[in-house]
Amino acid sequence: MLLVGGGGGLAGRALVQEFAGDWDIRSVHRTLAPEESAASVEWVPADVATVPHWGPMLDGVDVVVNVAWYRSGPDRRFRPLAEGLSRLISDCRTAGVRRFVHISVPVATDHIESTLPYMLRKRQVDAALIASGVDFSIVRPTMLFGPQDKLLTVMLRTMRRWHRFPMFGDGSYHVSPIAVRDLARIVRREAGLDGSRTLTAGGPRTWGYRELTDFMFGTLGLSPHYFQLSARAGERLARWLEILGSTLLYPYEVEWLVSDRLGFPPYEGLATPLEPVEPFLRGEGMRLRSHRPNG
Ligand SMILES: NC(=O)c1ccc[n+]([C@@H]2O[C@H](COP(=O)([O-])OP(=O)(O)OC[C@H]3O[C@@H](n4cnc5c(N)ncnc54)[C@H](OP(=O)(O)O)[C@@H]3O)[C@@H](O)[C@H]2O)c1
Repeated sequence: MLLVGGGGGLAGRALVQEFAGDWDIRSVHRTLAPEESAASVEWVPADVATVPHWGPMLDGVDVVVNVAWYRSGPDRRFRPLAEGLSRLISDCRTAGVRRFVHISVPVATDHIESTLPYMLRKRQVDAALIASGVDFSIVRPTMLFGPQDKLLTVMLRTMRRWHRFPMFGDGSYHVSPIAVRDLARIVRREAGLDGSRTLTAGGPRTWGYRELTDFMFGTLGLSPHYFQLSARAGERLARWLEILGSTLLYPYEVEWLVSDRLGFPPYEGLATPLEPVEPFLRGEGMRLRSHRPNG
């Protein structure tokens, strides 16, 4: 397997853990991760944007899995990455790679889909794969959770620290968080299929957003307290955070969340049930409670 985006990120780490026991992995990204010390993992230090020819890296490769992407930034960041991935897709066809599993993102608002480099370039890569002639699965997971994730874990930390949390609008929109370990199991299943498909992947339960944040406060032994913001004010807050250099929240994430497009049905087809989010949140909540709030 060629794992592009490697074992350093949230999804990449889970993929290495899922596959290292019975697959040989060639993992392409810039910073070696501890998970990649397994004998079955060959780390190739490279920036995807600057690989001119993928042929040598595809030697002996049956399946390519791509997780490389950025969470935000200008087009000058996304364009070279999208071009590098498009070269990879084209070289996969030449090399006779059996299947390409690409982690993409769900459909967002028209505004995000038509203006944001993050999304426009993602769709460019999706389209290159669909047109390539290589068999593929394009997997569009909703919010991922797992150790050191940058969404639920960060939200819990914020609640623990401030005993308050921003609520955008009435919080009645939906989310269906999926475990990153389950995403890795989905990739394993998709890697073994024939033909091509694009699918969304939700976790086992669809939550009202506020229902989820109330539950999260509970795992910290706190009553839910919110500072109420309109969706617009939430986007403005996120814009200020971004200007100040924070990676906590981006304006498009607020827009996407309140647009109520992130509550999908569960992925179907795995041999054992999807992991519920509650035990993960309880565990993280306990961990945070055992530390000093500002420590
Ligand atoms: N997290 C979520 O909730 C979520 C939800 C839906 C979809 N997704 C999608 O799932 C995928 C993985 O997300 P994630 O949360 O695991 O992201 P992540 O933690 O930021 O990891 C992305 C990895 O991609 C690598 N990468 C980025 N640019 C690269 C480049 N130019 N060359 C080589 N490697 C590069 C980085 O490794 P190095 O820095 O070591 O190079 C990084 O470890 C992304 O496509 C994302 O859009 C995520």
